[in-house]
Amino acid sequence: MSGYEANEKSSESEDCVEQSAAERGVSEEARVPSRASDINMFENLPRQVKVVEVGPRDGLQNEVANVSTADKIRLIEALGETGLEYIEVTSFVSPKWIPQLADGLQVCQSLNLSPKIHRSALVPNLKGYAAAQEAGLGAIAVFMSATETHSKKNINKDLAEALKTIAEIVTVAKQEKKFVRAYLSVVFLCPYEGRVDPTKVVDICLALLAMGVDEISLGDTIGAATPNLVLELLKRLKLESDLDRFALHFHDTFGMALANVVAGLEMGIKTFDASIGGMGGCPYAPGAQGNLATEDLVYLLHSLGVKTGIDLRKLVACGHLAEQILKRQLPGKYLRASGLQSGKIIYSEPEVWRE
Ligand code: HMG
Ligand code: MG
Repeated sequence: MSGYEANEKSSESEDCVEQSAAERGVSEEARVPSRASDINMFENLPRQVKVVEVGPRDGLQNEVANVSTADKIRLIEALGETGLEYIEVTSFVSPKWIPQLADGLQVCQSLNLSPKIHRSALVPNLKGYAAAQEAGLGAIAVFMSATETHSKKNINKDLAEALKTIAEIVTVAKQEKKFVRAYLSVVFLCPYEGRVDPTKVVDICLALLAMGVDEISLGDTIGAATPNLVLELLKRLKLESDLDRFALHFHDTFGMALANVVAGLEMGIKTFDASIGGMGGCPYAPGAQGNLATEDLVYLLHSLGVKTGIDLRKLVACGHLAEQILKRQLPGKYLRASGLQSGKIIYSEPEVWRE
């Protein structure tokens, strides 16, 4: 049977279902599917997605306002109450490069979080790894770029030096049974070098996997990717590796982050990074705006019937807490639309999506 015949056949059988429903006297309203998962137009959606909250790191590293250690702890602990299970709490980079997170050790040591929550921090070298170890973290995130220029600007190392440093960290981290995530930045477009060759990205990913990293988060550092670029890269990667090892990390400069998430979901990606309220940016990537807002990601996923284990209302409250701490409005769309700030819910997630 040709595809065309198959389509004709299926629309005929839908008509039959409609007729018999009408015959049985079922009202139009009663035939509207009650659960988001009943009406999916996508074919490959996972049942559950892992959301990695990066706001306390990616968000706060880019803030000009001085955020006190106590406020950082307040925000992270509130995030820990939402059902989020993965939180990147800080980074252990040079305070000369990122003064905003110079209190990382204090933050980690003062946090009162459920042991179920996996905490991690960014580490650029063995010195950072030692700090993460002292902080008692069970997971770390190493990071590098896909282009020479961004690498130099961000960590003052070329790609070969960056890979060598990561290999040193991974060797020690694996001996100590840590979970190791590796970020690869500017995988689609680089603010200095433009379009990045996917073959180069695939090669670096394979080198990182060969070192033993557990997960690679692909970074659209300047938020310039579009769904076609996402599909292109993931299709290339899928030829070489299992996509279960990959996460997507979108910044939202051009408002494409959610569309890019859908492209990632269709390709089978099950881990997405996001930042509360849409805070974020890399100070060494000019033009980078905030990350995809966690509330927007969770709202999308729940609307598609994909579970996250996260309570969207509690997340919104965290977004407003972040706004209070930073004394500015954050860009997250759901945060604005939910209207909780004024004490009045204008629009909220339908009950059925939470089931
Ligand atoms: P450097 O200046 O080339 O190296 O920095 P250095 O070894 O000469 O260190 C300079 C000073 O920093 C020294 O202190 C070191 O001891 C100290 P001094 O002797 O001058 O007093 N230092 C440290 N201090 C504390 N903790 C450390 C540490 N390391 C050195 N771990 C370095 C090289 C890699 C350290 C620096 O470039 C750096 O820290 N860069 C980090 C930049 C950064 O954090 N960028 C943002 C994160 S990446 C990102 O946002 C992208 C991501 O979100 C994904 C995406 O969106 O694509 C992950
Ligand atoms: Mg980032």
